[in-house]
Amino acid sequence: MRIGVAKEIKPQEYRVALTPAGARELVQHGHEVVVETGAGAGSQFPDADYEANGARIGSVDEVWESAELLLKVKEPIAPEYSRLREGLVLFTYLHIAADEPLTRALVDSGVAAVAYETVETDDRRLPLLAPMSEVAGRLAPQAGAHYLERPKGGRGLLLGGVAGVAHGKVVVIGGGIVGYNAAVIALGLGAQVTILERSVDRMRHLEEVLHGRVSLLMSTTLQIETSSADADVVIGAVLIPGALAPKLLTREMVAGMKEGSVFCDVAIDQGGCAETSHATTHDDPVYVVDGVTHYCVANMPGAVPITSTKALTNVTLPYVEAIADEGLAQAVARDKALARGVNVLDGRITYEAVAEAHGLEYTPLEDVLGASAV
Ligand SMILES: NC(=O)c1ccc[n+]([C@@H]2O[C@H](COP(=O)([O-])OP(=O)(O)OC[C@H]3O[C@@H](n4cnc5c(N)ncnc54)[C@H](O)[C@@H]3O)[C@@H](O)[C@H]2O)c1
Repeated sequence: MRIGVAKEIKPQEYRVALTPAGARELVQHGHEVVVETGAGAGSQFPDADYEANGARIGSVDEVWESAELLLKVKEPIAPEYSRLREGLVLFTYLHIAADEPLTRALVDSGVAAVAYETVETDDRRLPLLAPMSEVAGRLAPQAGAHYLERPKGGRGLLLGGVAGVAHGKVVVIGGGIVGYNAAVIALGLGAQVTILERSVDRMRHLEEVLHGRVSLLMSTTLQIETSSADADVVIGAVLIPGALAPKLLTREMVAGMKEGSVFCDVAIDQGGCAETSHATTHDDPVYVVDGVTHYCVANMPGAVPITSTKALTNVTLPYVEAIADEGLAQAVARDKALARGVNVLDGRITYEAVAEAHGLEYTPLEDVLGASAV
């Protein structure tokens, strides 16, 4: 199969969908890989590294026009819509339930659109989202520590303390993938860490894997109020699948937090878990409400593209290989997790929640596959 790797043109996106190591794997499987000029530059992969591993470098037109399978990181943006076409399999993050213009562009073009974020295993894991949660979770305490510094508007406190001086306190709301990874790094920085969770089973698991080094508390309204008032850094890491994040921190609770403390709302991509949260960018990451610095960057992994690119491609590559080796139809017939990734095929919406979100017609994937040429 001819596999294209497009350069991301969305502002502030430095990741790339395939590493030179991944290109070599695909070439070894007998595929042809064409990488757009400069596609890997933001992640410190020069064109020469791809060429050295068997890929070819091509123009934007060549990559989009010649590819049978096109790999991207972010959803196509408006200038790319006209490049979508029948016969192309697009594999990328799409998030189209919240993007009607893109949904229509995908449907009208006849492209086969497979979304990283809806690839879902039978036990309901999202393997292509997990690494970004790991990255964001590990970044959150770093952001907290940074904005606690006095010149950054913070309280002027070192999370790790020193001998004879108390540690800072980090409270993590939600002990899933983000929460666990945030706790690991906060512990590493020397902070005193508390995780507020709702699932007792999850707390038992965290107790075990973190060897009792964190306090695990039931996430009630009262506990959130008490813990946030006592914290130096609060990290929002809750998720209710398929729903907006619950507003667990009210405006009054934020007002009750310490002057110069930091609230890092990782759940901001689902609307945020405080009444005072609104999305920010890496260019302008923070704002202050009632003396509390809010860090609410919606694409935190974009700050560390070298790590994020490698973490992402580690998990996407097996699926890329399956599509390339077997063709999309065969690959989804064999792997239900990948089948759940197909959002649009042959002008039909094959992912129910997307159709529902836009009031458009839903067609089960099996019905489209029977008649499809992919
Ligand atoms: N900002 C970014 O760049 C970025 C990057 C990756 C992930 N995220 C977001 O981070 C959030 C967490 O993702 P995740 O992968 O850790 O999800 P996850 O499903 O692994 O974990 C969510 C956890 O929240 C817990 N929870 C639910 N309601 C709760 C409540 N009321 N109180 C306490 N805990 C509660 C759940 O039991 C679960 O353990 C999501 O909104 C995700 O989209 C943001």
